[in-house]
Amino acid sequence: MSNTMADNYLENKFEELRNRPAKKKVTASLSTLLRRNRSYRGFDKSCVVTQAQLRRIAEVCTKVPSGRNQQALRFKLLTRDTGAEKMQGLYKLGGALPELHLPFPGTEPEAFIIICSTREPDRWVNMDIGIAAQSMLLKATEMGLGGICIGAFNPAAVTEAFALPYPPQLVVAIGKPAEQIELVTVREGDDLKYYRENGVHYVPKIALDDLIL
Ligand SMILES: Cc1cc2nc3c(=O)[nH]c(=O)nc-3n(C[C@H](O)[C@H](O)[C@H](O)COP(=O)(O)O)c2cc1C
Repeated sequence: MSNTMADNYLENKFEELRNRPAKKKVTASLSTLLRRNRSYRGFDKSCVVTQAQLRRIAEVCTKVPSGRNQQALRFKLLTRDTGAEKMQGLYKLGGALPELHLPFPGTEPEAFIIICSTREPDRWVNMDIGIAAQSMLLKATEMGLGGICIGAFNPAAVTEAFALPYPPQLVVAIGKPAEQIELVTVREGDDLKYYRENGVHYVPKIALDDLIL
């Protein structure tokens, strides 16, 4: 091939690549993410969650609203390599199904994000915690992972185990979900306790008409 031919070839190839329609990135809609973003209490331990994945999840907290823009929340990221297993025994899952002693052995969460607050939580900080937790869980869901908010943990033991500089307020567990969870529409006044039947976890949710005042 002569030089000019080679140049033309490359030029044409570049042109072809430039004009190629951009590959559409398929992302789930918000409705889909919300539906998939359930509270999982059993995980596939063969899927390792990395520190980089936890950073991508925590990164949503650089973009969320904050009451008075106080931004008092700080995040401890725990993977298998950074002591996640030390969380075992320091939290409780499935308070409404105590007979199951969740999580089942071998299905514990792979990773955790401990949400701490630099200041005594007031109502604004508490709202920020909810916004941060749900935003991070949605991001995890988008990444094919899932998790659960854990309020039932031992704050003194968690502070000590991870030498936290600020008090922990909420723990978010992250992993590859290994549970089938279905939402069930119920009416105002119905039982709201989640339950399990034939291995499926059912979560009652109040119908829209009963939510609207
Ligand atoms: C702030 C907060 C704290 C929670 N703490 C716990 C907990 O300690 N243990 C647990 O098993 N589930 C906990 N959950 C999960 C709830 O039980 C769950 O959201 C509820 O059963 C509805 O299920 P869903 O999230 O799949 O809609 C918590 C949820 C929230 C929002």
